[in-house]
Amino acid sequence: MYDFIPDNPYILLTPGPLSTSKGVRNALLRDWCTWDDDYNKAIVQNIRRRLVALATTDTEQYTAVLMQGSGSFAVEACLGTAVPKTGKLLIITNGAYGKRMVEMTQVLGIDHSQIALAETVAPNVNAVEEALAKDTGITHVAFVHCETTTGMLNPLAELAHVVKAAGKVLIVDAMSSFGGMPMDIGTLGVDFLVSSANKCIQGVPGFGFVIAKRSELERCGDNARSLSLDLYGQWRAMDSSGKWRYTSPTHVVRAFYQALDELETEGGISARAARYRQNHRILVEGMRELGFKTLLPDEVQSPIITSFLYPNESFDFKLFYEAVKARGFVLYPGKISEAETFRIGNIGEVYPEDMRRLIDIMREVVGA
Ligand SMILES: Cc1ncc(COP(=O)(O)O)c(C=O)c1O
Repeated sequence: MYDFIPDNPYILLTPGPLSTSKGVRNALLRDWCTWDDDYNKAIVQNIRRRLVALATTDTEQYTAVLMQGSGSFAVEACLGTAVPKTGKLLIITNGAYGKRMVEMTQVLGIDHSQIALAETVAPNVNAVEEALAKDTGITHVAFVHCETTTGMLNPLAELAHVVKAAGKVLIVDAMSSFGGMPMDIGTLGVDFLVSSANKCIQGVPGFGFVIAKRSELERCGDNARSLSLDLYGQWRAMDSSGKWRYTSPTHVVRAFYQALDELETEGGISARAARYRQNHRILVEGMRELGFKTLLPDEVQSPIITSFLYPNESFDFKLFYEAVKARGFVLYPGKISEAETFRIGNIGEVYPEDMRRLIDIMREVVGA
């Protein structure tokens, strides 16, 4: 069907940008006018509605705002707009992306405190409850759902429960999990969820999005610390006309629309999540058979990306990486300070048969 779209030279087993379908890459090929209804009504507004419907059944209470840039821009827009000048943000960190939120609050001048955990330690719900009880000045809480640094899945439902029971506004960076794991943010009580185009929806990079509780976003009119990253301003403009305040990444947006169609064709998030889980199971079982160990115990491991420990001191990741790449798969280096690791993602246009082929290649490369 898309014979004229070239095959990729290798499959990306990374946390995004990831391998996309030919249909998605094909959708990049035409130009759009940003004020024409063909673009803003038929594509932008449709995407916004569909994103909300993927996030919750409570569609009336939520809205979606798209924001130019990579995922970090959307996180920064969200933090900088959601927290009022008099507010205080508690950030729970156990990896690079939690720490990035702390850096953002420092640059933006947002009052904040932190529960800073080691990269292999899962947040303790009681400790969060205590921190909230102790510091009544905290108004907002933020954490990362799947901490892509290690692949750890933080306990979204449990954390959401204590944050909402304490009456705080909840911001979740679900960058690498949204679209790849079922969740209902209305039921969970999440006020702001952030993700981006090039993760589990399987689009290409160029914008992020925030799915926000309308009643919360409505209160954020005077909060923004940046003109271009004003989530409220973007929402107001986009809600009335589908227009982005400043030039939108039209081709990327059209490709994302196609990616949403393909997600629906696959059977929605539950079907995609089942494929990712199967990819992940084949990966981990195969790697363990070859003698590799996962960094994290299975109980906290996400079905998105997995960190593997170097098998011995003489292991040369660069050589290993090049050998696997020459055979059709790109892996990802580790990102943690506590151990020598590399990572393998299993999201994107990647299927169980690809993971089986990967394991055969690994066997050949390590000579097992
Ligand atoms: C959980 C999480 N948060 C934030 C980001 C930052 O996104 P970006 O690199 O697109 O700015 C990433 C990127 O992988 C991520 O995995």
